[in-house]
Amino acid sequence: MTDQQALLATTTSAVRAIIDEKVAELVAAGTARPKVGLVPTMGALHDGHGALFEQARAENDLVIASIFVNPLQFDQPEDYEHYPRDLEADLELVTEYGGDIVFAPSTQHMYPGFPDAPHIRVSAGQMGQMFEGASRPGHFDGVCTVVAKLWNILMPPPPAVFRSYFGRKDAQQLAIVTRMAKDLNIDVKIRPVELVRAPSGLALSSRNVRLDDHGMEKALGLSKALHFLSDQATRGEPLDISAARDMIRAHENVDLDYLEIVDPDTLTPLTEEQLAAPLEREALALVAAWVPPVRLIDNMLLSP
Ligand code: PAJ
Repeated sequence: MTDQQALLATTTSAVRAIIDEKVAELVAAGTARPKVGLVPTMGALHDGHGALFEQARAENDLVIASIFVNPLQFDQPEDYEHYPRDLEADLELVTEYGGDIVFAPSTQHMYPGFPDAPHIRVSAGQMGQMFEGASRPGHFDGVCTVVAKLWNILMPPPPAVFRSYFGRKDAQQLAIVTRMAKDLNIDVKIRPVELVRAPSGLALSSRNVRLDDHGMEKALGLSKALHFLSDQATRGEPLDISAARDMIRAHENVDLDYLEIVDPDTLTPLTEEQLAAPLEREALALVAAWVPPVRLIDNMLLSP
């Protein structure tokens, strides 16, 4: 199902009717178990999202995109208000990226009675309190709540199988939603997608559009610091986190939130001893910094 304008649905009943119909068509045409891929986004699509669509297109019969700027996951009203929104441009991009269906509900449709609703929310637990969660209280509860809702709304009927795509750009989010599907027995397969960077090294992000040339230059400090650590890891040298932190702090007005090296599975920080010795297995470097007017995150796998 390609080469056609992606179908837009703004309500739960409309999107479910389209999904049911498409799955029935696929079954009638002889596909025993239609594969349905969901790419959850907040819009302002760029080639980083494009990589998720590309993988979803390659692996599924039907590709659904959701576009919803989720107020529950923003701890700063200013960030929520200024989050870039352009549904028309996004629809074109989803079509270009090969998506079949776009679900773009209003805030009131997702959360009738908002801001007093929803009453019941998902807690991300301890995994949601480290790193991004420590700096953005409630952020991952908001992510889990909306992702659980999106899965419930968009899960295709049997005999279809359901997959949901998440980028490694948000390494902690990927770890948490993977855990949520497991802990809550949600019948969805999580598919991780590699992080996409600009030629400059900057991780592609919807927030980058708010950076001017100076901001872009400063933002490059994040990926440079990560490359510095990655080079040390491949050379079997001790990992000098302080020097990497200084590379980011060297830029005027840049406020480093955290730069840590953790176990990729548990997100537990490596000990001083582990940092001083050559790496025995892959580690994950996580970084977040304010580069006014935005907060940026990045990460890189460090290989021995
Ligand atoms: P959003 O920031 O729009 O990102 C949607 C998906 O695109 C996420 O899985 C994110 O990791 C991925 N992505 C963004 N930039 C990327 C890049 N440069 N390389 C690879 N993947 C990239 O993440 C969210 O929205 C929301 O939290 C959401 C999951 C939709 C829940 O509201």
